[in-house]
Amino acid sequence: MEIPVAGETLVMEGKMRDRFQELETRALKDLEAVRDAAGLERFRVTYLGKKGLVTSLMRQIGSLPADKRPEAGRQANLLKKKLTERFEALRRTLSLEAEKGTRRIDVTLPGRRPELGHIHPITQTLEEVCDIFQRMGFRVVKGPNIELDYYNFEALNIPKDHPARDMQDTFYISDTLLLRTHTSPMQVRVMESQQPPVSIIAPGKVYRRDSDVSHTPMFHQVEGLLVDKGVSFSHLKGTLTSFVHQMFGKETGVRFRPSFFPFTEPSAEVDIQCVLCRGTGCRTCGQTGWLEILGSGMVDPAVYGFVDYDPEVYTGFAFGMGIERIAMLKYGIDDIQMFYRNEMRFLRQF
Ligand code: PHE
Repeated sequence: MEIPVAGETLVMEGKMRDRFQELETRALKDLEAVRDAAGLERFRVTYLGKKGLVTSLMRQIGSLPADKRPEAGRQANLLKKKLTERFEALRRTLSLEAEKGTRRIDVTLPGRRPELGHIHPITQTLEEVCDIFQRMGFRVVKGPNIELDYYNFEALNIPKDHPARDMQDTFYISDTLLLRTHTSPMQVRVMESQQPPVSIIAPGKVYRRDSDVSHTPMFHQVEGLLVDKGVSFSHLKGTLTSFVHQMFGKETGVRFRPSFFPFTEPSAEVDIQCVLCRGTGCRTCGQTGWLEILGSGMVDPAVYGFVDYDPEVYTGFAFGMGIERIAMLKYGIDDIQMFYRNEMRFLRQF
């Protein structure tokens, strides 16, 4: 094929156009044969370089008659643009392929381990508490989160207008339905369904209109109930002391402090020796050396009236504890909201 060289004089417009056409055909064919960076560079020098064929053809435009030059110039620019674009595209493709070549897969490397899920710290604590009581012979029962006012309040000796209803800010669904504010309604549901002896624990979610560093609108409780002939306050003390020792360690001090609940009489709140300062007084325990962990008491005879138990024959004790609080004390967590932020760095520690 005849390629125009620098200095050759072109007179005819038609001839010039043929040359552009020939050059384009030849260049594109050459480009198609390029397989590597060296070939690509040869192509650039031959066609697009300062002394390349396109450049020299452009120089010849000057020797055309003045009226033919603009059209010839336009043609030359189009050709140069087209070849440059094709050249750049090929360069990108080749460099991608080269990169791929260096990123080989080493099949002998150990694989990436799939991440295993964790049991949530609240679930872990809940299970631990339940295990301890199950070993003592308590049976696990579960009940509805959407509860009747009757079970949540009425049958627990908390009539409408009773000031004790102010103790808990309730999510009401209707006049008679609510989200249970504690697990104590399970005491009534169980006693309603069977005669003594009963010994049950009832773990589950409870709801109160409350939210700050120590409260979430939903949290977990474990309720306990034991009713039989001859059950006394010393049984309550022995059972809960044993629980504290198993949960927090044998050396942990336990204190029963008089309290009030409408459905137990007498009532007691249970404190454990502060897990942080071991009783000497710190910020967590408000310098008292003690931390409250649960409410308890002897089942009030008034409650037996709702479930058809004979208070002359049977006595029993009940208790209820907040699981988030116990988990916070056990693991030294100072913000209850941490349990519900789903932050992997926090959760992975358990
Ligand atoms: N239900 C009470 C509360 O949520 C705790 C409690 C349970 C107290 C059983 C006494 C007996 O605060």
